[in-house]
Amino acid sequence: MNYLIVTNSCPFSHDKQGNKIVTTSNVGGVATALKSMLEKFGGTWICWGRGSADENFCEEKYNNYTLKRIMLTRRERQGFYEEYSNGVLWPLFHYFRDKIKFMPVSYKIYNEVNKKFAKEISQNIENNSVIWINDYQLTMVPFHLRQMGIKNKIIFTWHIPWVSKEFYSILPEGRDIIQSLSMSDVLTFHTKLYTNNFTETYRFLFNEKPHSKVYSIPLGIDTSFFSYERARKIKYDGIANKKIIFSIDRLDYTKGLINRVLAIERMLKKFPELAGKFVYVMNVTPSRTNVPEYIKMKKEIEMTVGRVNGEFSTMSWTPIIYMYRKIKDSTLLSYYKIADVALITPLIDGLNLVSKEFISVTRKGVLIISKFAGSACYLNDALHVNPYNLDEIADAIVTAINMDEGEKYDRLQKLKMEVQKKDSTWWYKKIISKVA
Ligand code: G6P
Repeated sequence: MNYLIVTNSCPFSHDKQGNKIVTTSNVGGVATALKSMLEKFGGTWICWGRGSADENFCEEKYNNYTLKRIMLTRRERQGFYEEYSNGVLWPLFHYFRDKIKFMPVSYKIYNEVNKKFAKEISQNIENNSVIWINDYQLTMVPFHLRQMGIKNKIIFTWHIPWVSKEFYSILPEGRDIIQSLSMSDVLTFHTKLYTNNFTETYRFLFNEKPHSKVYSIPLGIDTSFFSYERARKIKYDGIANKKIIFSIDRLDYTKGLINRVLAIERMLKKFPELAGKFVYVMNVTPSRTNVPEYIKMKKEIEMTVGRVNGEFSTMSWTPIIYMYRKIKDSTLLSYYKIADVALITPLIDGLNLVSKEFISVTRKGVLIISKFAGSACYLNDALHVNPYNLDEIADAIVTAINMDEGEKYDRLQKLKMEVQKKDSTWWYKKIISKVA
């Protein structure tokens, strides 16, 4: 068997920096798992070359697999990526009705770009290739492949939530999209809830069962990489004697970033004795910086963090250390290691791998997780909160800070077992076994 992986983002990109060309690795959770699978079995990876120098690297050979980049014009990038993927589908599948900007023109471009992906796939498959497509940017690819007469097995993995049938039905192009998805042989979601929502949506729209087999198989992490032993020491002299609350997210309105800052404010008002005893290290990674909602969100966060820090800071203490930048994995590991509490409170999240990474690395930490993150249903021994309830978040932080060592240890052992059992290799093996 040979695999053909299709994702929107590439695991590596090339950018011009003056006269030089630098290569950046974008190997997030999904890419880590897919990359190790391709290295093992061999195959091809097709993705969109969005780096400023990627046009010079349309085909690259890596360890046992070939990476092929599809180039998009400015208009295609805007219609496909910024407007339809991130301006319509992203808010739709996260229940943000007011942020959806319906635009029939951008759907047209989205569909054309999906066809472009399908064409590239058709030129790279062999008889026994399994095509494995990922996520909401590529929903129409199965339709175009079948139109071209391609009969190979298709796996489609969905990495974000799937909404209720009524909510999905507001999407004008909804019937085409769900029909295309169900032209895959195997469709996977991260939780039972999303799987059920999908099946119910299909029944609601077509009065029959979807044609593909549908499974809930949650993505896992590479636990040998996210380990305590690999985490290096970092200097944090100024805050070493304080409890460290940590979070890392892409800048996105689904992540509940403002609510989290407001919860810190609420906590300081409710428990003023905590002033000076903790710091909240809030790391935010730039994302989708050309999409208007994200530009607006960035300003809102800066204002809110500034206001809360302005209210509570002293000459020797600032409650929130806000960092807006992409950090290296090695730095991230160190943060996981020093953190007493990981505060992961998205308003909604397809899965959330940060929660699993933290559990894998920490030896002393407590995880606070939003009950609307997909991973929460697997992480029963974390503290679960409603991210809209600021008092509940504030109280959970206090509970976490004061938790006795025995309880912390017991919870952590159970959580670690879950994360280790369902790691990234378990995930891809389980999925490919469904088409075997
Ligand atoms: C989410 C999506 C992924 C996407 C990632 C980064 O996790 O499910 O498909 O790759 O965000 O977003 P970006 O728009 O920067 O590729």
